[in-house]
Parts: sequence; C-alpha cells; structure tokens
Amino acid sequence: MSDTLAPTHRFPFVQPNGDPLVPVPSPGSERVARITLPTGREAWLVSHHDDVRQLLRSPDFSSDFSHPLFPLLREAPLLDESRRAGFFIGMDAPDHTMFRRFLTPEFMIKAMRRLEPLIRETVVESIESMRAAGSPADLVEWFALPVPSMIICHLLGVPYSDHAFFQQRSRTLLNRKSSMPELRAAGDELRGYLADLVAVKQRDGGTDDLLGRLAVERVATGEITAQELVGISVLLLVAGHETTANMIGLGTLVLLRHPDQLAQLRERPELIDGAVEELLRYLTIVRTGLPRLAVADTEIGGQVIRAGEGAIALLSAANRDPEAFARPDEFDLHRAAHSHMAFGFGVHQCIGQPLARSELRIAFAELTTRLPGLALAGDQTDLVFRDSTVFGVERLPVTW
Ligand code: HEM
Repeated sequence: MSDTLAPTHRFPFVQPNGDPLVPVPSPGSERVARITLPTGREAWLVSHHDDVRQLLRSPDFSSDFSHPLFPLLREAPLLDESRRAGFFIGMDAPDHTMFRRFLTPEFMIKAMRRLEPLIRETVVESIESMRAAGSPADLVEWFALPVPSMIICHLLGVPYSDHAFFQQRSRTLLNRKSSMPELRAAGDELRGYLADLVAVKQRDGGTDDLLGRLAVERVATGEITAQELVGISVLLLVAGHETTANMIGLGTLVLLRHPDQLAQLRERPELIDGAVEELLRYLTIVRTGLPRLAVADTEIGGQVIRAGEGAIALLSAANRDPEAFARPDEFDLHRAAHSHMAFGFGVHQCIGQPLARSELRIAFAELTTRLPGLALAGDQTDLVFRDSTVFGVERLPVTW
C-alpha cells in the first residue's frame, strides 16, 4: 500500500498529433496517479477497470457537486440552492435515491420497447430527408443530432420546434472552454425555458409525457417542488440528446473505418447488439471521467484516498484496460464487451441507457441497410472533433 505523494500530471492529458479516437494514456506509470485538474486542485486518477468499478460502487465516494472540496473538472459558477434543485446527478442519498425512484420506471427496458416503433419511424424519416437533400450531406446535422433530440422531446413533452434553442445552450454547458458568464447564461436560459414549460404542464394537468406526469403525480402531491422538476428536465434534456448524438456520429465514423466489419453487420443484422456494446466501449464518449469526493479513507488500487480528497474515475481508460479486454485498442464487434462502463457504474449509472441502446441499435441498423453505399466524403484529416465533456465529431460529411 502506498501512502506517499507521487508527482502530479496535468489533466486532462493531451496528445495533439494522435488519433483522436484513441484516448490519451496517462503519462505516468502509477496505477492510481496524482493529477492536477484544470481548476488547479489535485486529485487521484483511477483508471484500471477493477479500481473504477470499486470506486463507483463505494458509498465512501460522494457525487455532491456543491461540496467545497468536490474535484470539479473545470471552474463552474457557484450555484445557489434554486439553480441546483433537482439536478440529481450531483447529489447523494437520500435525495438522489428519491429522484431515481420517481424516474426509473419511465426509462425501464419495457417502456423503451414501446417507444421503438417511434424511434424507427424517426430514424427512417431522417435518413430519407438526408437522401432527399442530396449527397454529400453532414450526417451529424441530418441524422445524428435530430434523431435523439426528437425522441427526448417526445418523451419529456418539449416542443421539438425549439431544438435550435436548447441544442445551443446544451452545447455551451458541456463545452469545457465555455466562460463562466456563458455557462451561467446558458444554464439560466435553459432553466427559464423549462420553468415556463413546467408551469404549462402544471396548469394543463395532462399525463401524456414525462414532465406532465411528474407535474401531476409528484409536484401536485408535494413530493417534489416545481423548481426540482425544472432541474430534472434540464438534466434529462441535455443528457438525453447530446450523448446519443455523439455516439451516432462517432459510431458511424468507426464503422466506416472498418469496412469488413461493416459488411458483416449488413449481412448479419443479429450482430447489432454486440456492435453497439463494442462501439460504446471503444468510444467511451464521457472521456474526461467521473469526479467523486472521498468521504472516508479508502484504499483503491493500493493507494489510500483520504476523506476530503478528490478522485476521477477514468471510464475511457477502464474500458481499454488490457486486463479486462484483450487487444483493447482494436475495434471488434464480435467481442463480448458488455462489462464496459461507458454508462458509468453504481448508483449513478446512466438512467437513460435502455433508451440510448434502442436508439443506437435502430440508427445503425437502418443506416447500414438503407444506405449501402455510405462513405466518408472529403478528407478524414479535415474532421473536427469536439473537445467537450462529451467527446464528439462536429460534422461528418458523407456520400452514398
Ligand atoms: C448518467 C453516459 C445517454 C440521462 C450517466 C453517466 C454516464 C452516462 C457515464 C454516469 C454519471 C456519473 O456517474 O456521475 C451516457 C452515454 C449515453 C447516455 C454514453 C449515450 C450513449 C443518456 C440518455 C439520457 C441520459 C439518452 C436521458 C434519457 C442520464 C442521467 C444521468 C446519467 C439523468 C444521471 C443518473 C444519476 O445520477 O443517477 N450517463 N448517457 N443519458 N445519464 Fe446518461
């Protein structure tokens, strides 16, 4: 067991000329490395598969963003109580448990299966609109972004006609380079927009969509406040479209870079489930890792992490740990990749994963069969990748 302070490495690591699809490895040799975050605060970097699992399921690590010692991955505006209300990704039990309990039934696999005909219809319509617009086209603009945005809007009861407004604010919130005033403005505008919508749902009393149901079944009964419902909707709207959109864009790029495997997928549609899990593992779009604060001394990977110290669970490294996945840097759709942690692990594990999986399976299945001649347009070296909390590609010009 090591209890001495190792040298620190500046995090996140950069490697300007490497393949952007390959996460940059830790420069040090320590199993649990000492790092300096962009805020100047130090933390422990946990990157082995077993260690990340242990950390994320341990009750000795908190997700409470509002704690003054919390290892934020960037400077963030100090948020008062009303701006944090309902934002349960940054909370611990018992509040976190209560919000999860209200939402879990809405996102269960059975509920998502019922949504699949609508997902398929949306996917097919988007492909046909892109085809009608003519080749070449930007797959992100025509397909990867609209499909999950339309579905999360339908589920929540948010008008899709407002997509330009909420997509732009979401992007600012997730961009690691946004300034403090930009972050505060984007957060306030999104909350203001959703507060108006929640007020309408409360007044109308309809239960056809998730926000309406929560307004009637939880706010009207006094279990949660309207402000908390606004926080929940911000979280679901942002997390519910940008993540899956990036997976569709990048996933298409990976499939096009592996034409043999793409051909197999076309010939054997039953491979789609495994292909989606492998894409999730290989890309691990939540690249910067999950921050946690130790609330009790805990030993992880031979390192004692003291109460009050921060730790970052680096999902992208855990998902390429050679002890968990043989030849981890190879994309192999035949691999049994289901033990990946692209959706996190433990009590905060992604609540939207059944939805994301349905969207990804249908999106890749329809795209590969409906556009058999799909290919990248232009020079791959021109692709611009998004340096954000969630990794993505800005535009993906394609022909077919
Ligand atoms: C949590 C990834 C899609 C809603 C998470 C976490 C990860 C993640 C890694 C864990 C955060 C933590 O432990 O601190 C992804 C990926 C997605 C995706 C890779 C797409 C491929 C979605 C969708 C929704 C969603 C479609 C909405 C319906 C959430 C919410 C949380 C969460 C609300 C917080 C859960 C909690 O704190 O209990 N996601 N997500 N995600 N995700 Fe996703």
